[in-house]
Amino acid sequence: MKAIRIHDFGEPDVLKYEDIPESQPGPGEVRIRAIAAGVNPIDWKIRRGYMELPLPMTMGSDVAGVVDAIGQGVDSFQPEDEVFGKASAGQGGYAEYIVVNSTQIAQKPKSIGFIESAAIPTAGLAAWQSLFDIAGLEKGQSVLIHGASGGVGTFAVQFAKWKGAYVIGTASSKNAEFLKSIGCDEVIDYRNQQFEEIVSNLDVVLDTIGGDTFERSWGVLKPGGFLVTTVASIPEGTPQKHGVRAERLITQADGKELAQIAAIIDERKIKPIVTTVLPLADAQKAHEMSESGHTRGKIVLRIAEDPK
Ligand SMILES: NC(=O)c1ccc[n+]([C@@H]2O[C@H](COP(=O)([O-])OP(=O)(O)OC[C@H]3O[C@@H](n4cnc5c(N)ncnc54)[C@H](OP(=O)(O)O)[C@@H]3O)[C@@H](O)[C@H]2O)c1
Repeated sequence: MKAIRIHDFGEPDVLKYEDIPESQPGPGEVRIRAIAAGVNPIDWKIRRGYMELPLPMTMGSDVAGVVDAIGQGVDSFQPEDEVFGKASAGQGGYAEYIVVNSTQIAQKPKSIGFIESAAIPTAGLAAWQSLFDIAGLEKGQSVLIHGASGGVGTFAVQFAKWKGAYVIGTASSKNAEFLKSIGCDEVIDYRNQQFEEIVSNLDVVLDTIGGDTFERSWGVLKPGGFLVTTVASIPEGTPQKHGVRAERLITQADGKELAQIAAIIDERKIKPIVTTVLPLADAQKAHEMSESGHTRGKIVLRIAEDPK
């Protein structure tokens, strides 16, 4: 099968389009014939060696495709099921076939194609788990989403709106109208405005940016509010000093939550925002774009034609 592999850490040119053997599913696993793979910033961070995973490795983790073989003990999926899911880092989403644990996948939303489905797993689960599992966002509460136009942010804005929250997003001005169209009540232009001078007394902040943005976020929360970050380490004692709660997300590959997200998509309440689709062989270009830090929504690699 064709796969995008790395044998060394480094620049995008370490990504190689290669032929490798397909793996067989073990107990509890399924093999998916992939139609599309989602691209996430964690992919280029792994490629750069930030995680020091063993080499060589097949890149990627987010996939949508058709179940092609079933391991022992799997009764929740059958061959030809149309699925999507999140493999662990290094399990290889950028490939024609991928073997994953059956608990990491779900039936794909019926109302959208494989390309949009492959955009969901990491970013959708990150947004869902940050807002609901960690921060406990509820109807009527207020949330500030930093990086609202990114992969995680575009899901978070829509989930928060769906929940009935008041949604404020930060992005550059070119994304303001777009963000209002997907559910932001207010958009703050982070290049020209200081968000802490505009908002205060918030229930939740979701930070996908880190650094100075993360540090300036403590002061905009109400007492007992929640700062959840996808990127920053939380200094010991700082939440207590500000009288708030805080947690750094580690996204879990949860097939049950993916099924909940699929159901909301099929109710047409939210939709994945895919702005770039490239062939698998163009993974280098996809990484260059992702590393810019200024793409809107998601980048997806097309691995095979949609069978329909
Ligand atoms: N901990 C976890 O489990 C976990 C899970 C998922 C993601 N993450 C991490 O979360 C981060 C975000 O992921 P992602 O997929 O959303 O990234 P992404 O799609 O690359 O985010 C790009 C977006 O960030 C916006 N942006 C850049 N600088 C900004 C700033 N200073 N203020 C506000 N917005 C800014 C850009 O908007 P403009 O073009 O308008 O500038 C762009 O739309 C990444 O570092 C990723 O690795 C962690």
